[in-house]
Amino acid sequence: MSVSIEVNGTKHDIDGDPSMPLLYALRDQIGLRGAKFGCGLGQCGACTVIVDGRAVYSCLMPISALAGRAVTTTEGLLEDGKPGKLHQAFIDEQAAQCGYCISGMVMRAQHLLERNADPSDDEILTGMQTNLCRCGTHAAIIRAVKRAART
Ligand code: FES
Ligand code: FES
Repeated sequence: MSVSIEVNGTKHDIDGDPSMPLLYALRDQIGLRGAKFGCGLGQCGACTVIVDGRAVYSCLMPISALAGRAVTTTEGLLEDGKPGKLHQAFIDEQAAQCGYCISGMVMRAQHLLERNADPSDDEILTGMQTNLCRCGTHAAIIRAVKRAART
């Protein structure tokens, strides 16, 4: 079976089992490796992408649910091939340690800032709480989201 999905503005025909998680299609078929496999259970957020304006765990979303829907990954936030506003804020705040969670964090932050351009500290904490960083850089991640909101 082939499913046509739009990722970062480009259409892709994905061949395979319709139950294949979007994460596998992104990484193994389309070649976008930003989203990471962490738990595969919807518990860590490393695989977070945006589908039709909503942050989702791509490890749990089957490609069969994506026909005609628009997917945005961290690569879609690049600006002329360079880090976008959120990427740069994470760099400036040195938010990455191992970096494994960062793509998901950036997409969760994008989702938050699309809804609330000037979030309070509490709103950032609430908005980001679904995503985990096993290196414990949450304080720098929160600073990065605040920095991005200011710029
Ligand atoms: S890999 Fe998807 S939530 Fe952990
Ligand atoms: S920087 Fe290592 S998991 Fe977050």
